[in-house]
Amino acid sequence: MNEKYVIANWKMNPDTTKEAKSILQGLKKTLDKSKIKNTKVLIAPPSIFIRDIISLKIKKFLLCAQNASYNHIGSHTGEISVEMFSSFGVGYSIVGHSDSRRSNDSLYDINKKIEACLKNKIKPILCIGESEKDNNGFYLKNISDQITSALSGISKKDIPNIIFTYEPVWAISNSNQRNATGEEVSEAVMFIRKVISDLYDEKTARSIVVLYGGSVDEGNVASYLESGEVSGFLVGKASLSPEKFSKIILQTENSIKKNANN
Ligand code: PGA
Repeated sequence: MNEKYVIANWKMNPDTTKEAKSILQGLKKTLDKSKIKNTKVLIAPPSIFIRDIISLKIKKFLLCAQNASYNHIGSHTGEISVEMFSSFGVGYSIVGHSDSRRSNDSLYDINKKIEACLKNKIKPILCIGESEKDNNGFYLKNISDQITSALSGISKKDIPNIIFTYEPVWAISNSNQRNATGEEVSEAVMFIRKVISDLYDEKTARSIVVLYGGSVDEGNVASYLESGEVSGFLVGKASLSPEKFSKIILQTENSIKKNANN
């Protein structure tokens, strides 16, 4: 329960493999002096960089796909299957990011991707979150519908292998709206646990890992860690800067030590 995750979602960045390697080498250098024991650091690069990243042999970072197809080999132009990622040693995949929901992922696709990941021992990072937040709580129905459809047919024993991520679309850096407050994030995380409890049971709900994503940076990460509700972060823009991203990792790691001492 104490384990945390910090995930770099590079999206369609950077332009070249040289820059990709340089970000990771920079990150390794900044983290080399610090002992990161309880925080798993995942890198979700554009797939075309995966082979080069593997060749760097940096054990500190785990690889994550940004999106994977649930289809098997065959006529699926432009897609990369869960099995292909798995054969490269990729252990995680983002599923249902709002970018892919917007472009082509239906609720059916998201459910099938969760199934395919679990079948191939890839842990899905399931993104859920409302596009707009209203003051009457209707957005909560949106969150619960997204979870319910994503988990359709998924058995209780598989739930601990899913990493839930609350990502309100309005708080993502390119939405130009506003940052979520620590309180808003805690409320949503508690609500996600409630939905899991209703779908499965309380024990399962308590055991799930819930991350937060949406304009997380080195300046606001403490406000999200404060309540102790989140188990880490999915970071976009700030993950492209080794300095900023390492500060997020270190603050997350230190929050574990602080909680353990309390
Ligand atoms: P952001 O992206 O940190 O740039 O807001 C997060 C995400 O979209 O995963």
